[in-house]
Amino acid sequence: MNGPESEEPPLRRAVCPGSFDPVTNGHLDIIARASKLYDEVYVAVMINKSKQGLFTVEERIGLLRQVTAKYGNVKVESFHGLLVDFCKQREIPAIVKGLRAVSDFDYELQMAQMNNGLSGVETLFVPTNPTYSFLSSSLVKEVAAWGGDVSHLVPPLVLDALRERLESRRGSD
Ligand code: PNS
Repeated sequence: MNGPESEEPPLRRAVCPGSFDPVTNGHLDIIARASKLYDEVYVAVMINKSKQGLFTVEERIGLLRQVTAKYGNVKVESFHGLLVDFCKQREIPAIVKGLRAVSDFDYELQMAQMNNGLSGVETLFVPTNPTYSFLSSSLVKEVAAWGGDVSHLVPPLVLDALRERLESRRGSD
């Protein structure tokens, strides 16, 4: 049958962008919630050549792929350059961001307005689960580096990778 009735509705796509060095339970909470709202969710790992991370972009992608595999509709890719170009290339009309606190809002609002002005892409803010409102990859790395317990803040796979990486760094100091 021809006509509009026979056509598949377009896929609703969104992107969750970030550095993910490494992915935390806070990120996963946002990705999981986005995966319920959209048909396809892209997790876009930013390549930042001027900043060396604890994990390489490939390692971050590997960890993200494993911990998001259970959702079924989540794809993990890297990107370089403007997020709006990543969105344009994949026909993604929406960026989903977690807001932890009011302090996140100023910069996030600027980016959302800039991205919308550049290409019309919308940004949707999801309030972070209060359990993770203080959580960031940087704090996880700092606490773990000093031997603090972060087992409740990252998936077990990430905890193992963190321990291994920090151990090997200590060995080379
Ligand atoms: O996890 P982070 O480091 O807070 O993520 C920041 C990120 C990757 C979302 C942001 O820096 C970004 O979108 N960078 C891509 C470059 C870009 O599009 N810049 C213009 C934003 S208005």
